[in-house]
Amino acid sequence: MDKKALLELNNGLKIELPILSGTIGPNVLNIKDLYRTTGLFTYDPGFVSTASCSSSITFIDGDEGVLKYRGHDIADLAENNNFTAIIYLLLYGALPNLEQHKKFLLKIGELSKVSEQVINVIKAFPKTAHPMSILIACFASLSAFYHERYGNTVNSENLDCGISAIAQVPAIVAMIYRHIKNQEFINAQNELSYSENFLRMMFGDAFNNDKSSLFVKALDKIFILHADHEQNASTAAIRLVGSAGSNLFASLSAGIATLWGPAHGGANEAVINMLREIEQSGDIGKFIEKAKDDKDPFKLMGFGHRIYKNYDPRARILKGACNEVLDKLEQDNKLLKIAKGLEEVALKDEYFVMRKLYPNVDFYSGIIMNAIDIPSNMFTPIFALARTTGWVTQWYEMMNDKEAKICRPRQLYVGE
Ligand code: CMC
Repeated sequence: MDKKALLELNNGLKIELPILSGTIGPNVLNIKDLYRTTGLFTYDPGFVSTASCSSSITFIDGDEGVLKYRGHDIADLAENNNFTAIIYLLLYGALPNLEQHKKFLLKIGELSKVSEQVINVIKAFPKTAHPMSILIACFASLSAFYHERYGNTVNSENLDCGISAIAQVPAIVAMIYRHIKNQEFINAQNELSYSENFLRMMFGDAFNNDKSSLFVKALDKIFILHADHEQNASTAAIRLVGSAGSNLFASLSAGIATLWGPAHGGANEAVINMLREIEQSGDIGKFIEKAKDDKDPFKLMGFGHRIYKNYDPRARILKGACNEVLDKLEQDNKLLKIAKGLEEVALKDEYFVMRKLYPNVDFYSGIIMNAIDIPSNMFTPIFALARTTGWVTQWYEMMNDKEAKICRPRQLYVGE
C-alpha cells in the first residue's frame, strides 16, 4: 500500500504527501508538489532534513555508525581490497574479477597522461600557494579540453572522461607537491599499484626504503575510506554544478573548492595543526574548554559530523591503522598520544556526549600521513584525490537520472 502523510494547514487545507521508501534507511516525504498545491516552500538551511536525490552508490546509517559502498560494508572493503578494486566497485556497481581488474588497470594507465597545458598551470603558481588552490585550477583547465571535445553535451554512457580524471589526479597532486618543493616532476610507473605509483611520483627514490610497502598499504586504506560519502557538501556542489549542464571537469573543480573548507575535507590539515598547538601548550583541557565555549568560534577539529551520531566507522578503521603503522615504525608518536588523550577526555565530557560528537574520518588520517612524511598542506589534496572517484560516480549517476532537474533552491525573503 502506498504510504502517505497528511499535512493539515491552519486555513483548513489538507493535503496528502507521498512517503517514499528506499532499500534501507529512513523514508522520505515527497514534497515536490508542495508549492504548487499549497503555495508553501520548506525551510531547511544546510539541508539538514533534505534528500536532494535518490542514489544507489553509498549508504550511511549515522546513528549506528554504518557505511557501505554499493552494499558492501566499509570495514570489509578496506580490509580485503585495494583501491583500484574500490574505484571499479563504485563506478560499475560490483567488485571486479581478476580479468576485469587487469583490464581496468590498463585503462587507468592509458588515460593517466597529464597534458603539458595542465603542467604549465601548475608551474604558473607561486611556490607559496596552497596546493588546493592549484588543484582547483588544474581541474578548471581540464574543463577546457572537455569542452573542446564534447561541448556542453553529456556523454553519460562513456565513462572514459570520468576514468581519465581518476587516472590523472595522482600525477597532478604529486606534481603540485614537487612544484611547491621546487623539485623535478617524476614520470608515472603504471605497472605499479595506484597508491605506490602516487607515492613514487611524490617522493621518487626517497621512497625506496624498507617501510614503503607499509606506507603503500596504509595510504591505499586512506584512499578507500575517502572514496565516497553520499551527498556530502563537495558531492552536493558537484551535482549542483552538473545539474546546470556544466561539464564534468568544471563540476569537479567546484567540488575541490568545496572540499578545501575546514568544516569539510580541510579538517584533516586543521587537526594536525591543532594537535601541534596542543603539543606546544601541553594543555588538552584548555582546548576542550575553548571548543565548548559558545562565544569562541573554535571547534575541536576532526570531531562531530552532520550524519554520524556515533563513532565514524572510517575513524575507527583509521585509528587501528594508525596504531599499526606507528607500532611497525617503532615510533613513540607524540601526536597520536595527544589525539588519543583528546578523544578520551572529549568522549567523557557531557558537552560532547550530549551532542553525540565523536571523532570523524579526519581525526586520525593526518597522523598516518604525517608518519609517511606527507606535509600537512597535502592532506586535503590527498582527500580530493581519493574522493575524485566518488565525485565522478555521483556525477554520472545524476546525468543518467531521468528525474534529475537543475538544482534551484528557494529562499525565505527577509529584505526590503
Ligand atoms: N567541537 C565543538 N562543538 C561542536 C563540534 C566540534 N567539533 N562539532 C559540532 N559542535 C557542536 C555545535 O557547536 C552545536 O552545538 P549547539 O547545539 O550548542 O549549537 C552542536 O555540536 C551541533 O553541531 P552543528 O554545527 O549544528 O552540526 P553540523 O552538522 O552543522 O556540523 C560539522 C557538522 C562537521 C561541520 C561540525 O561538527 C564541525 O565543524 N566539526 C569540526 C570540523 C570537522 O572535523 N569537519 C570534518 C567533518 S567529517 C569529513 C568531511 O566532511 O569531510
